[in-house]
Amino acid sequence: MRQINLPMPIWDIPIRLFHWLLVLLIGFMWVSGKQGWLEYHMLSGYAILSLLIFRVVWGFVGSDTARFLFFLKSPIEGLRHLLHITKREPDTEIGHNAAGGWMVVVMLALLFAQVFTGMSANDDISVEGPLSRLVGKDWSDWATSQHHFLFNIVQIVIGLHILAIVAYAILKRHDLVRPMITGKKRMPGAMQAPRMMSPILAAIVWGVSALLVAALIWWAP
Ligand code: HEM
Ligand code: HEM
Repeated sequence: MRQINLPMPIWDIPIRLFHWLLVLLIGFMWVSGKQGWLEYHMLSGYAILSLLIFRVVWGFVGSDTARFLFFLKSPIEGLRHLLHITKREPDTEIGHNAAGGWMVVVMLALLFAQVFTGMSANDDISVEGPLSRLVGKDWSDWATSQHHFLFNIVQIVIGLHILAIVAYAILKRHDLVRPMITGKKRMPGAMQAPRMMSPILAAIVWGVSALLVAALIWWAP
């Protein structure tokens, strides 16, 4: 008998918006950092921080596929998953797979570090991140060099992220990108759909995250 695959909602709108906004803003951070458009660089950095805080909170109160407890498996399971990357099998994954889940945590942690070193950085001329006075000149100089260094790591990890998606497409014939755009994936009808939370709740969480970032900038000396 032929298996019937039906479109199932996998990624909610907030996760997709978070992802594609992050892609746009990181691209802008790269250009603005290298070009020295630091005023816009910093503004865009605050937007990224609000998205990161939103993502962490959504990882606890959001839709099933956004939740850390839903997709974080043991690192051994993540490795086992990678060892099977060449095995052709139907894509029945609801959300991140065991290896992808760890990639999410690593990317979020790296981006937090990139933002906080940026907020403590200075350009030795006229621009200072909002936390640079708080940490003092020596730490600010150290944070600046870490900000430069970390961006290399961020680029490598993003490269690996895209390579993994291409590998899934070529080796396993799994299209991970379309669900990240449409939110839906074709799944065997018998599988239970993940629970989706309201986008209004997501908007409230993001609003509070943005207010927290604004308060941090306002409070910094
Ligand atoms: C600046 C570059 C990028 C960054 C920082 C980034 C970051 C992320 C993060 C944090 C996630 C986890 C989503 C979540 O659960 O919140 C993710 C997932 C994903 N990203 Fe990206 N991404 C980037 C570029 C791209 C590009 C260019 C593509 C498409 C070719 C892409 C396709 C995907 C897909 C398909 C997933 C879901 C993977 C899965 O099914 O488990 N990403 N990305
Ligand atoms: C994910 C977020 C961020 C990324 C990807 C990023 C990336 C970069 C890059 C690529 C540079 C240029 C480095 C070079 O010339 O080699 C830079 C410089 C800089 N960034 Fe960021 N940045 C981020 C967040 C921030 C934030 C939030 C702030 C402050 C609020 C900030 C403040 C600065 C400053 C002051 C410089 C100039 C440092 C110098 O002249 O040596 N960045 N950033």
